[in-house]
Amino acid sequence: MNKISLTGVKPTGTPHIGNYFGAIKPAIEMSNNPELDSFYFIADYHALNFIKKKEELVQFTKEIACTWLACGLDPNKIVFYKQSQVPEVTELNWLLCNVTSKGLMNRAHAYKALVEKSLEAGDDPDALVNMGLYNYPILMAADILLFNTKFVPVGADQKQHVEMARDIAKAFNKRYGNTFVIPTEIIQESVATITGIDGRKMSKSYGNQIPLFCTEQELKKLISGIKTDSSLPTEPKSTDCAVFSLYKLFANKEELEAMAERFAKGISWADAKAELYSVANKYLTPMREKYNYYMTHYDEVEKMLDAGATKARAIAKETLARARAVIGLD
Ligand code: TRP
Repeated sequence: MNKISLTGVKPTGTPHIGNYFGAIKPAIEMSNNPELDSFYFIADYHALNFIKKKEELVQFTKEIACTWLACGLDPNKIVFYKQSQVPEVTELNWLLCNVTSKGLMNRAHAYKALVEKSLEAGDDPDALVNMGLYNYPILMAADILLFNTKFVPVGADQKQHVEMARDIAKAFNKRYGNTFVIPTEIIQESVATITGIDGRKMSKSYGNQIPLFCTEQELKKLISGIKTDSSLPTEPKSTDCAVFSLYKLFANKEELEAMAERFAKGISWADAKAELYSVANKYLTPMREKYNYYMTHYDEVEKMLDAGATKARAIAKETLARARAVIGLD
C-alpha cells in the first residue's frame, strides 16, 4: 500500500491568486505523485471558529470545492470530501482528548495569540477563547490519525499543529499500544511571497487580493489599480515591483524575457498592466470556465464529495474500531 498524504483547507474566504500559487497549485502537483494516496478535505468543522454566518459557510465551502476541482484536483485519483461528512472525526476527537494534556493545548500559537490580545486589552485572558478554538489541534489530530496519514503537506503556520498531532498519536500509542501511524509535516516552502495590488504580501487581511476567479472586467480593474511609482513611460523601471512580480507568475519564459527587456528600456505603466492582464487572463480563463461550470452545476460536485466521503468513511470506521477496541470500548 502507498503512504497516505492528507491535507485540509478551511472554507474561510474566497480563494485568491496568492492562495493559488502559494498552496493550491503545489498541493495539486503533489496529488499527482503516484507513490502517494492523497486525501484532500474541506475543513468545515475547523471553519466554525471563524465563520459564524450560515450563508457564508455554505458559500465558502462551495467556492473552495469548485476551486480545487477547477484547478485540476481529480477526485478519481484522490479522496476528496467534506470533514463534516465523516462523523468518525468527532468521535476520534473525543478519544484523543483523553490522552492530550491541557498543557499541550496551552502552548498552541493560535491560543496564545488570543490570550495575549486579551491581556493587552486588560481583559480576562480567555475572553476571546471558545472551546472550539482551544481544542482545534485535537480535532486536527483526529483528521490526520483517522486515515493512517504519513505525510501532512501544510504551510509553515500549521507546523505546530502537525507536531501536536504527532505528540497525541505517541501518547495514545504509549498508553494503549501501537494504534496510530505517526505523521510528519511536509512544509510547503511558500513559492516566494505573492504580491498584492498595494505591493504588500497578498492577503485577505490587507484587502489587497485578486480573487482567483473574478470576472475579466474585475480582473482588468484590479490590475489597473495596482500601485506603481511615478516614473515616466520612457524611464527604465525596476522589475522589483508588484506589476512585474505578478507578471512572472503567469508568463512563460519568452514572455518574461521580453517583458524584462521592456522594463529595462522603459515602458508605460498602462502598457505593463495591459500586458499583465493579458497573460493573467490567458492563464486563468480555462480554469475560470471550469469553476463557473461547477458553481452552476453544484449537484455534480456534491456527488463527487459524497463518493469521496464514502471512501473516506470506510477507512475511518476501520481506524476508529481499532482505537475503540484497544481502549476497551467494544
Ligand atoms: N488547520 C489547517 C489550516 O488552518 C486546516 C486543517 C484542518 C488541516 N485539519 C487538517 C490541515 C489536517 C492538514 C491536516 O490551514
